Amino acid sequence: GLIGIDVGASGVKVVLINDSGITLAEATREYGYQQNKPLHVEQDPEVWWENTCLAVRDVLASSGLPADSISGIGLTGQMHSLVLLDRDDKVIRPAILWSDQRTQAQCEWITREIGLDETIRLVANPPLTNFTATKLLWVAEHEPHNYARINKVLLPKDYIRYRLTGVFASDVSDASGTLLLDVANRRWSREMCEALSIPMDWLPDVYESVEVTGGVTADAAEVTGLAPGTKVVAGAGDQAAGAVGNGIVRPGIVSSTIGTSGVVFAYAEGIVKDKAGRLHTFCHAVPGAWHVMGVTQAAGGSLQWFRNEFAHIEQSTAKLIGRDPYELLSMEAEQVEAGCEGLIYLPYLMGERTPHLDPLARGAFFGITGRHQRAHFIRAILEGVTFSLHDCLRLIRALDLPVEEIRVSGGGARSELWKSIQADVFQQPVFAVEANEGPAFGAAVLAGVGAGCFTDVQTACDTLIRTDEGITPAPRNVSVYEKAYGLYGALYESLKPHFR
Ligand code: XUL
Repeated sequence: GLIGIDVGASGVKVVLINDSGITLAEATREYGYQQNKPLHVEQDPEVWWENTCLAVRDVLASSGLPADSISGIGLTGQMHSLVLLDRDDKVIRPAILWSDQRTQAQCEWITREIGLDETIRLVANPPLTNFTATKLLWVAEHEPHNYARINKVLLPKDYIRYRLTGVFASDVSDASGTLLLDVANRRWSREMCEALSIPMDWLPDVYESVEVTGGVTADAAEVTGLAPGTKVVAGAGDQAAGAVGNGIVRPGIVSSTIGTSGVVFAYAEGIVKDKAGRLHTFCHAVPGAWHVMGVTQAAGGSLQWFRNEFAHIEQSTAKLIGRDPYELLSMEAEQVEAGCEGLIYLPYLMGERTPHLDPLARGAFFGITGRHQRAHFIRAILEGVTFSLHDCLRLIRALDLPVEEIRVSGGGARSELWKSIQADVFQQPVFAVEANEGPAFGAAVLAGVGAGCFTDVQTACDTLIRTDEGITPAPRNVSVYEKAYGLYGALYESLKPHFR
């Protein structure tokens, strides 16, 4: 068996698969986050570790497999989030998460001192509030007492690796999201570290995703139930690992994933960059390959906000009848026509990355009339989020990367309606990956390659991944959405001066 561990932003998910890619057991342990100030989002790394131990125990118990039959473990997790350790390898302060938006001033400082073009030249990406290095600069400025204690800087999954194996290591895909990796050469950027006065010995060694980085220690074996010495591969950031799980490992196959955030992800054989930095250019979990992706901050997060604030009845009903509350919302949205009679939603609840790179952007509903019902608002959210994903897809097409097949995954692929909106807006069929367990599954596949069960990532994906028959665009909706998408774009431009 192979284990994949996904240290996510809302919980940890562990899957145990066999060599044929069949999921034998799966466990999720949820946790929350702290938002003690506006723009701040933090989590205690100890909570990740405790829940990881529990979830690993859960899958071992429910699969009934002996621990020594596990040939490898792959790690993945939320990207960008900053973990700081002191000289005794103790956590210095709560992790500052990827979704935390406090570092606008640090981003502006980097743009001023180093320059946008030079930053993109060194690390392939522009300074964004999500990226780890900006969070480190914030700690230097606002918490010098904490900064003075730093001995190691880690990403979430790499902290779990340290607890499992005692080894400090990262992989090239996750490290790409720190703003400190020379993405073109797949190693830390000395120039960038010097420019930001970040000692390079704070950073762990970087590996390709399939490389073995160490084995489970006796102490970790005791608390997790794993066998001592079980191999742990480098793994990948959640987007790259999720892409492996979706088979986005060759040119032409592109994914659209709706989780809390929404991501359009394309494989790239060489390094390609959007000049304005609106797409992220990162190393892929496929050794020697890259990927580009566009990220919309509040995708599933928009619908989650609506559910929490305006759908209490559906939430309790769903619980009573054992259904998913999102399923009820999606059914309600199906009752109104495409285009929502002119109601448009801008999904900028958490600022926006692609295409605006604007942490101050805000959400909006536009075009409300007395005829609009709640169903229109739900559908407008599904459509608005999809418009934002379309912004990402258009930028990918503009880089001349082929888009031959679009695979949808995440929560957005559980709704037939949301899948068909994606096909209509993208003007291309969309296919869902069967039995998709997300990034944790991709991490388990990487472990399988590292442990020698598969020759390489592409072969593993060819063997393990199947897609459904797909949904094709409905011509009538395509033209409705084309018009609405134009208005959607114009609305952001008109509102932009007021997002201050
Ligand atoms: C990727 C990103 C998100 C987080 C969420 O750039 O910010 O995918 O990794 O877990």
